[in-house]
Amino acid sequence: MGVDVLLGLQWGDEGKGKIVDVLTPQYDIIARFQGGPNAGHTLEFEGIKHVLHTIPSGIFRNDVMNIIGNGVVIDPVILQKEIQQLEKLNVDVQSKLLISKKAHLILPTHKLLDQASEIAKGKQKIGSTLKGIGPTYMDKTGRNGLRIGDISSVDFNKKYQKLKEKHFKILKDSTLLKNLDSIESEFLKSIEYIKKFKHIDSEHYLNNASKNGKKILAEGAQGTLLDIDFGTYPYVTSSNTITAGTCTGLGIAPNKIKRIVGIFKAYCTRVGSGPFPSELKDEIGEKIRQVGHEFGATTGRERRCGWIDLPALKYAIMINGVTELSMMKADVLDSFEDIYVCTHYIQNEEKINFFPFDLSDDTKPVFKKVKGWNQDITKSKKESDFPKELSAYINYLEKELEVPISIVSVGPNRSETIIR
Ligand code: GDP
Ligand code: IMO
Ligand code: MG
Repeated sequence: MGVDVLLGLQWGDEGKGKIVDVLTPQYDIIARFQGGPNAGHTLEFEGIKHVLHTIPSGIFRNDVMNIIGNGVVIDPVILQKEIQQLEKLNVDVQSKLLISKKAHLILPTHKLLDQASEIAKGKQKIGSTLKGIGPTYMDKTGRNGLRIGDISSVDFNKKYQKLKEKHFKILKDSTLLKNLDSIESEFLKSIEYIKKFKHIDSEHYLNNASKNGKKILAEGAQGTLLDIDFGTYPYVTSSNTITAGTCTGLGIAPNKIKRIVGIFKAYCTRVGSGPFPSELKDEIGEKIRQVGHEFGATTGRERRCGWIDLPALKYAIMINGVTELSMMKADVLDSFEDIYVCTHYIQNEEKINFFPFDLSDDTKPVFKKVKGWNQDITKSKKESDFPKELSAYINYLEKELEVPISIVSVGPNRSETIIR
């Protein structure tokens, strides 16, 4: 059996958690392959609204194994809180969660380094979630990191102290260090707590499972435009958020990957700094934010809102090899007479239709007006219930993007999903 992938095509928060949860009954295993607790994946069903940060979005379904892969970075404190919240909802996390021994650990000092880096950047700050993601991946590629497999070794404490000392040299006398003692004791307690969960060689587990006919879905975090190589660098996260990240983040060979579901909002959002050509800094953007509840699931920050961006989406589809699309939050546009689509950019007085190297605040959008449906679509149960303007919007996007839209989401709930 092959491995399928679901990932975001914009700047994150496309609704990945919801759709992974919807698709989970088709799978035996759900696996996260990159990112860490910078992610916030929201699931809504049967009166429950739940946000997951590190744990895959298959955790609420029975008979499904959830894997935190080697490409993920783990904050044990956040993971412990996540597990305990799930246990309160009677989810048997112990039997349904496996953690790769090769996943890297976020240390308390990684979080302080993240803060120090943002302070030093001043106005050019990334707008990081401050979860320690960048510094942890830096230690991974710098070959200094600590991994889940290290926590059971007898010299874990020695290794931890050594890395902490290295961080002290960078932080020097930073006032940020005054908070270290309390966060460190919490960290060490959580390390003990997560020892009782199963730590595995997830690359072997997944390849054996696939050989034995099990169906695997890889769950992306963040979005393509936040990818470390192909996103709006330097305003990106520190991992490969794209399909290729599945290979390195899980140990899955490229020829095993089959279905690639790219997920996008019927409009566009971004949280944090960086260019966003189709952003609406006016009352329309504010209306989208309010109707769409566009506030970060991890940090609570306001998400910046704008119209859908076709050059960016086409780029993301190309990079990921997307085979089908899932369009989210169309219902948020229910009360618009007209909606707009960014079809091109103007850069250096030239009209371009591609995602350029130097996308910046000076890159201006060219919009095409599309007739809105201007009615409630949240009660739609099947495609034939859609107003003709929504069907026209879907057809237009499919023609432009050259990939079928197989899922249309018309509300946050599991049930508010139309499979075409
Ligand atoms: P993720 O990070 O990609 O999983 O997305 P988030 O959970 O951060 O943000 C998506 C938000 O939109 C969550 O609050 C979801 O409950 C909500 N949501 C998902 N799909 C829909 C939809 O079709 N309509 C509406 N109105 N909300 C949705
Ligand atoms: P999910 O999985 C939206 C953004 C941050 C910041 C940049 C770098 O919920 O879609 P980092 O903490 O990684 O150093 O932040 O990336 N960012 C996200 N934006 N959704 C996310 O995850 C994000 N994870 C990181 O806001 O701009
Ligand atoms: Mg999110």
